[in-house]
Amino acid sequence: MSWWRSGFVGAARKKLEDNNAKYQRFALVIGVTGIVGNSLAEILPLHDTPGGPWKVYGVARHPRPPWHADYPLEYIQCDITDPEQTQSKLSNLPDLTHVFYVTWANCSTEEENCEVNGKMLKNVLNAVIPNAPNLQHICLQTGRKHYIGPFEQWGKVDHTFHDGPFYEDLPRLNTLNFYYTLEDILFKEVTQKEGLTWSVHRPGLIFGFSPYSMMNILGSLCVYAAICKYEGEPLKFPGTKASWNSYHDASDADLIAEHHIWAAVDEYAKNEAFNVSNGDVFKWKHFWKVLAEQFDVENGGLQEDEDRKSLNEMMKDKGPVWDAIVTENELLQTKLEEVGGWWFVDVVLSNECMLDIMNKSKEYGFLGFRNTKSSLVSWIDKIKCSKLVP
Ligand SMILES: NC(=O)c1ccc[n+]([C@@H]2O[C@H](COP(=O)([O-])OP(=O)(O)OC[C@H]3O[C@@H](n4cnc5c(N)ncnc54)[C@H](OP(=O)(O)O)[C@@H]3O)[C@@H](O)[C@H]2O)c1
Repeated sequence: MSWWRSGFVGAARKKLEDNNAKYQRFALVIGVTGIVGNSLAEILPLHDTPGGPWKVYGVARHPRPPWHADYPLEYIQCDITDPEQTQSKLSNLPDLTHVFYVTWANCSTEEENCEVNGKMLKNVLNAVIPNAPNLQHICLQTGRKHYIGPFEQWGKVDHTFHDGPFYEDLPRLNTLNFYYTLEDILFKEVTQKEGLTWSVHRPGLIFGFSPYSMMNILGSLCVYAAICKYEGEPLKFPGTKASWNSYHDASDADLIAEHHIWAAVDEYAKNEAFNVSNGDVFKWKHFWKVLAEQFDVENGGLQEDEDRKSLNEMMKDKGPVWDAIVTENELLQTKLEEVGGWWFVDVVLSNECMLDIMNKSKEYGFLGFRNTKSSLVSWIDKIKCSKLVP
């Protein structure tokens, strides 16, 4: 089912003692509490992870959260938008062999996205490349917007994008895109060091776990479902009819982490960009029923487009309701604005069929996949077990 792991849920997760002498490789995960960063933090230190044993350093701005504390890694609090801080905290890791870059900044325009995200990546590479003599490979995560353009362009009449399914060799779109900026910086900076290689990973919609993720579809949908249940309201689909009926796909966060690690250690995966998705398709009209069942709430189904309210609108006054749910169920202390990424759900659930193809990854040797329905249910379980939702 997966590239090397025999079980998705309940796999044995042995921890390694913190002893540098026994490590083969040294990973720096930038964005270690994010939706994929969290999966890398969990999978990299496992005893059977390819290329291991891995020693892991992980970077994010917040103090280390309690739901992350069990992973055996060295946590570095650092804001990579700040060049001095990044130099001082990341230039003293001489044993590093690999960088996994799974972070981003969400700015109000794509022009700003290009500038800010470009600086963040540059700050990290400037701190690491000259100071880590054993550095071998850098994995950069971007995404499917490589083929369809940035959010701000979607829906504009003059915005043309590729006809799917998307494959890696399609030419870049003629529009600003911070993913292109990141790739160009990466391609240039790796030339600083002979033999340093790169890979680019392009997931679609990510199913995973992270209360600190800026785009977390399942976390947000679980919060919405919990609010509907608490108020005795049906779980209405806030998206469009076209999206409800379309084929979609998803990228499981653990699968993406496996894909990064495959590219990091496999000599045939170097200096290439790859799509990364589960390998099957689903329809929201089928998954909505599963979501409603998981929260024991009535399936409100599709709303006619003329009656439809965005989730952003439906949730705008629900802060006190969420506070009550958190208190009554003794959940982790969160505020609704932290756990409900309504803008993102509204964008995703208005999308029509935009699938990619995994042929290139398979041809290069990555045969991992996920059953997306199982992925949906397991991540919901994890979100509930972590006491983020009842
Ligand atoms: N999420 C999706 O569904 C999805 C789908 C396709 C593509 N992508 C792409 O994947 C890439 C990575 O996004 P993601 O969704 O995996 O990330 P994410 O879940 O939003 O996580 C971001 C991580 O980076 C950290 N971070 C943010 N700003 C930072 C800073 N200035 N300095 C240090 N750490 C910082 C965050 O923790 P702190 O807040 O504590 O710093 C967090 O650990 C992006 O290019 C995104 O567009 C995402």
